[in-house]
Amino acid sequence: MEAYNIFLIGFMGTGKSTIAAHMGKMQAMEIVEMDCEIARRAGMSISEIFAEKGEEYFRNLEARFIREMENKRNCIVSCGGGVVLKEENVSRMKKSGKIVLLTASPEVIYERVKDDEERPLLKGHKSVEEISELMEGRREKYEKAADVLISTDGKSVEEICTEISGCF
Ligand code: S3P
Repeated sequence: MEAYNIFLIGFMGTGKSTIAAHMGKMQAMEIVEMDCEIARRAGMSISEIFAEKGEEYFRNLEARFIREMENKRNCIVSCGGGVVLKEENVSRMKKSGKIVLLTASPEVIYERVKDDEERPLLKGHKSVEEISELMEGRREKYEKAADVLISTDGKSVEEICTEISGCF
């Protein structure tokens, strides 16, 4: 797996960070947490960026980050859930790596995010119905971007990582 990056995409709460951390150790790849890196550079949390600068500003920071990834290899990148919203990000990710889509049911996602305050898009919209609606709105973009789709419901972290490794 040395020659390219793996980009984990998918809706909020599908386990991208957990899987990236595990896969990175398993495959000796560099673990890259896109949101953490963006927040660190901005000196603000993701919620603060949304509140003070707006979503478009955040999306531009995402795009800049993805552009930089073109020069890197052997990274496992946990992407922000909205990375597929810009077509440009998808084509750039494909230049340096493979895109793996993680999916989970709205019910599972709800359980994972219900007490979380760090996801501005879910603020005031935390119900299975609203999650389902937002997810449906993005489904086509996620599926079109993905080289591989992995359903995570009912699987352990180890099972998911073994499944991803087996795809490449
Ligand atoms: C977002 C997902 C978040 C974060 C931001 C926007 C989205 O990342 O980038 O709150 O648009 O889906 P996670 O998917 O890691 O929660």
